[in-house]
Amino acid sequence: MTRQRVCVLALAAMLLLVFATFSKSKGLRDKEPQGESRIPSQFGEEERVAMKEALKGAIQIPTVSFNLMESNTTALAEFGEYIRKVFPAVFSTRFIQHEVVGEYSHLFTIQGSDPSLQPYMLMAHFDVVPAPEEGWEVPPFSGLERDGFIHGRGTLDNKNSVMAILQALELLLMRKYIPRRSFFIALGHDEEVSGLKGAKKISALLQSRGVQLAFIVDEGGYIFSGLIPGIQKPVAMIAVSEKGAINLRLQVSMTPGHSSAPPKETSIGILAAAVSRLEQTPMPNMFGSGTLEMTMKQLAHEFPFPFSIFFRNLWLFRPLVRRLIERNYITNALVRTTTALTMFNAGIKENVIPPVAQATVNIRIHPAQTVQEVLELVKNIVADDRVQLHVLKAFDPLPISPSDDQALGYQLLHQTIQSVFPEISIITPGICIGNTDTVHYTNLTTGIYRFNPIYLDPQGFKSFHGLNEKISVKAYEFQVKFIFELIQNADIDRVSVPHLHEL
Ligand SMILES: *[C@@H]1O[C@H](CO)[C@@H](O)[C@H](O)[C@H]1NC(C)=O
Ligand SMILES: *[C@@H]1O[C@H](CO)[C@@H](O)[C@H](O)[C@H]1NC(C)=O
Ligand SMILES: [Zn+2]
Repeated sequence: MTRQRVCVLALAAMLLLVFATFSKSKGLRDKEPQGESRIPSQFGEEERVAMKEALKGAIQIPTVSFNLMESNTTALAEFGEYIRKVFPAVFSTRFIQHEVVGEYSHLFTIQGSDPSLQPYMLMAHFDVVPAPEEGWEVPPFSGLERDGFIHGRGTLDNKNSVMAILQALELLLMRKYIPRRSFFIALGHDEEVSGLKGAKKISALLQSRGVQLAFIVDEGGYIFSGLIPGIQKPVAMIAVSEKGAINLRLQVSMTPGHSSAPPKETSIGILAAAVSRLEQTPMPNMFGSGTLEMTMKQLAHEFPFPFSIFFRNLWLFRPLVRRLIERNYITNALVRTTTALTMFNAGIKENVIPPVAQATVNIRIHPAQTVQEVLELVKNIVADDRVQLHVLKAFDPLPISPSDDQALGYQLLHQTIQSVFPEISIITPGICIGNTDTVHYTNLTTGIYRFNPIYLDPQGFKSFHGLNEKISVKAYEFQVKFIFELIQNADIDRVSVPHLHEL
C-alpha cells in the first residue's frame, strides 16, 4: 500500500458493514481445470524450508523508496539478481518471457496453451517504505525468524506477494505444469511513491501491445480477523474499488501591514474560520443506497444482539444505524468522503500582519462521488471568495469492479478462498481505502481485485508502514498455496451460472 494511506486498510474491513454484497454460495461449475489433471498443493519439507529462506533473503535487500525522486537503486538492482537466482525455473522456461521495465520493474509473460482464453495478471511490488531501527524488536532488514514469524519491512507490504507469486510459479513449473490460460506477472519497484516509473510503464507497454485482461489481482484486501467491531468470524474482503483523493490548498492573501493598527480581519483569521467550517461540516453520509439494504439483512446474522436487530430492521432503525456508523471514526470513513486538515502555515513576524495564510486539506473521496462534486461541496462550505482554492493533486475513486456471478476474477478468488481457507464463511467485496498500483491499469480491464490471502488482526494492521512488520511462516506458506491453486483455477474456461443462493 502506498505510504500515508495505509491506515485506511482497516477501514476497508468495515466496509462490509456498509457496502458489501454478501456472497456465500456462488461458485464455479468446473472446479477442476479441464483436460489436465490437477497438481495438489502439497509441498515437501525441503521445499517449505527453501520457501521461507527465499522470503528472508528478499527482506534483507533494503529496496527502500525514500520519496518520488529517491530510492535505493542499488538494492532494486540487487533484487532483480536475487529473484533470478532463487527462481531458476521461472527464468529458464521457454513459455515464459521476462522483461525489465522502467529499469527495475519486472514483467513476466506466461504463455498459456489455449490462446482463446483471455489472459489475466498477478501484481505486487517490492519497494518498501523506510524503516528506522528504533522501536523494532529485530532489525527491520534482518529477515530474522523468531517464534514462527519472519520479521522485517516488506513481510506484509508487499514482498510476501512478490515472492509468493514467483514461488508458486516455480513450484508449479517444477511439477511440469503448463497453463492453459496465459497470464502476466507485474512486479513494481516504486509503488510506495506513485508507481510512475514502474507500474505506469508496464501498463503503457501492455496497452501498446493491445493486451486486454480478464482480471487483475493485487494487494489491498485481506482476511480481517478481529478488526470489524461485532464480528468474531474471519472475513475475507476482496476490494473492488479504491477511494479517490484530493490534496487541496486553501489560501488567503492580504496586504501586509504593521500590527499596531490591524485590519478587522487578518488572513489567518479568515482562513482559520474557513477550515473550521470545513471541519465542522462533514460531507454527506452515503449510507443507505443501492444494494446495502440486502447486505445488511444478510450480514445481520453475524452481528451480536442487539445490533443484529438494528441491522435486520433498517426500516425502523435506519437513523440509529446511521448514527452508530458515524460515531466510530473508522466506519465513518467508509460511509462518506472525509476531509482532514493536515497543514497550516502563516505569519512571518510577531508584529507584521501576515500577507499570506495557507492550509492543506487531504480529502478522501467516497466511490459514490467524484472530484468535481466534492470540490463544489467544499466551495459551498467555505463560502468565502477571499479563500482561494488550489487543487494540488486529485484523482477520482477507481471504478467498481464486478462481483456478480459472471465476474471471472471475483469468482476465482472466491473459489480459491473457499478451498484454501475452508474455515472462512464470510467472503465479501469491499473498498480499499488505501491506494495501490492498480490505478495505472484501469485501461486494461474492468475487473481489478485487491486481495492478499493473509489474516490481518489489529496488530498486523498497525505494522503496515509501522513497527515490527512480520508474517508467520505458516501464513506465508498459505499464501504460496493460495496462488498455486489460483493459477490452476484460472485455467477454467469461464464462470458458469451458479446454483441457487441459499438464503
Ligand atoms: C542500499 O542497498 C544496499 C544493498 O543493496 C545497501 O548496502 C545500502 O546500505 C543501502 N543504502 C541505503 C541508503 O539504505
Ligand atoms: C487510458 O487510455 C486513454 C486513451 O488512450 C489515455 O489517454 C489514458 O492516459 C490511459 N490511462 C492510463 C492510466 O493508462
Ligand atoms: Zn503496498
